[in-house]
Amino acid sequence: MERRTLLAMVVVVVAWLGAAQATLYQDCGSTAEIHEFSLSYCEVPPCIVHRPSNYDVNITFTPTSGASELETIIIATISGVDFPWPGPEGCSQLENDVCPLQVGHKYKYSAFMPVLEEYPAISVVVKWELKDENDVIHFCALFPITIV
Ligand SMILES: *[C@@H]1O[C@H](CO)[C@@H](O)[C@H](O)[C@H]1NC(C)=O
Repeated sequence: MERRTLLAMVVVVVAWLGAAQATLYQDCGSTAEIHEFSLSYCEVPPCIVHRPSNYDVNITFTPTSGASELETIIIATISGVDFPWPGPEGCSQLENDVCPLQVGHKYKYSAFMPVLEEYPAISVVVKWELKDENDVIHFCALFPITIV
């Protein structure tokens, strides 16, 4: 292999490892400015989640468009197949705030990710979205979890 190619590969791998360690999630097209995303007991992906339990999912964001309704859409992808996961109504999860969402105002969304006893012990990629009544996706994150 050419030395330059090898060097380029090393740079890519190191950059990816650095990114993987720094971020818990991958943004999948949030229209809002995301300040923080946190999941209980998880600093580094994949998050290990124990059954049965509830995990906090906290999102601090500033919308770039207004909204009067917010829906939480949670999808677990297992081997390429999407499974919907029950999610709470979004506006009621805003801490000390209510809908309609105002452009430029900073909100904290705090919800639970329920991990039920009957869930299988597998690794899944979770997609967590906050979608409004106009189908604008204010927040979209993909994060890997391992259910144990
Ligand atoms: C999420 O927010 C709630 C309410 O403010 C707080 O009690 C909890 O510690 C936060 N959890 C994480 C993982 O940031």
